[in-house]
Parts: sequence; C-alpha cells; structure tokens
Amino acid sequence: MHHLTRIAAGLAVAGCITHAPAAWAQAPEAFSRYGCDGCHTVSAYGIGTAPTADAGGPPDLSDVGTRRDAAFIQGFLKKQVALDGRKHMLRFPGSDAELSALAGWLVTLDRPPAPAP
Ligand code: HEC
Repeated sequence: MHHLTRIAAGLAVAGCITHAPAAWAQAPEAFSRYGCDGCHTVSAYGIGTAPTADAGGPPDLSDVGTRRDAAFIQGFLKKQVALDGRKHMLRFPGSDAELSALAGWLVTLDRPPAPAP
C-alpha cells in the first residue's frame, strides 16, 4: 500500500504540494494537539522545542518520509506493527481519518533535521 507515497511524490514533482488535500493542512495542528511534539521534534519544519533526539530517544521526524510509508505509519501508530521489535509508545487516540491525514503529511517530510541549537 504505497499509493499515498506515490500521490505525495507526484504532487511534489508537479510542484503543487500547496494544493494538497485540506486535511493535510491541519496535520501539523493535530501533531501538536495529540502531543506528538511532546516527544518528537520536526526540526527542519520548525516544529517542537524538545532537544534534538539523543541516540535511543524519540526520533526527529524531519525526514521520516524518506524512510517510512503511510501504511506503516498508520499501523505503527495503532500499535499493530512494530519497529525493530518494539511497538510505538503511544496508541493514536484520534480517528482513523485524522491518523490518515497525519500519515499523509508525515510521508511528505524529507528535509535533513536542523542542527542542534
Ligand atoms: C511518549 C513519547 C512519544 C509520543 C507522545 C509520540 N511518540 Fe512517536 N515515537 C516515540 C519513540 C520512542 C519512537 C521510536 C520507536 C522505536 O525506535 O522503537 C517513535 C517513533 C515514531 C515514528 C517512526 C519514526 C521513524 O524514524 O521511523 C513515527 C512516524 C512516530 N513516532 C509518529 C508519532 C506521532 C504521529 C505521534 C503523535 C500521535 C507520536 N509519534 C507520539 C515516542 C513518542
């Protein structure tokens, strides 16, 4: 199930990422509302004030779209699939539609994390 990734890539290539579905525009707000930013920074996009991840800590998600697809992210956030033998610390408390929008946004993130301040 890679079609969301392909849609995102197609939008980016077409240069019309600003016309992404409206739900995606709310994804950064949901990221904060559901407390994702309590553990994760998205430093390249100016999200989160936690210190840049130490080894073994919650990863910075600035380039998560280069290593995960939407299907994995949704399954992982529902604690249905594991990463390196571990399930995600938090089970996503919102709706499937919100999780789908969040995952659709996360897979577009592809910038190198900002250097630690
Ligand atoms: C209590 C801390 C905590 C919270 C809150 C949290 N996470 Fe995580 N998250 C982690 C940790 C720790 C990992 C690394 C998992 C591992 O390596 O086993 C992780 C991993 C991830 C990954 C995979 C990253 C990668 O490099 O592949 C994604 C995507 C993710 N989280 C998204 C979210 C989203 C979206 C939310 C909000 C709904 C959220 N997280 C809330 C701790 C947290």
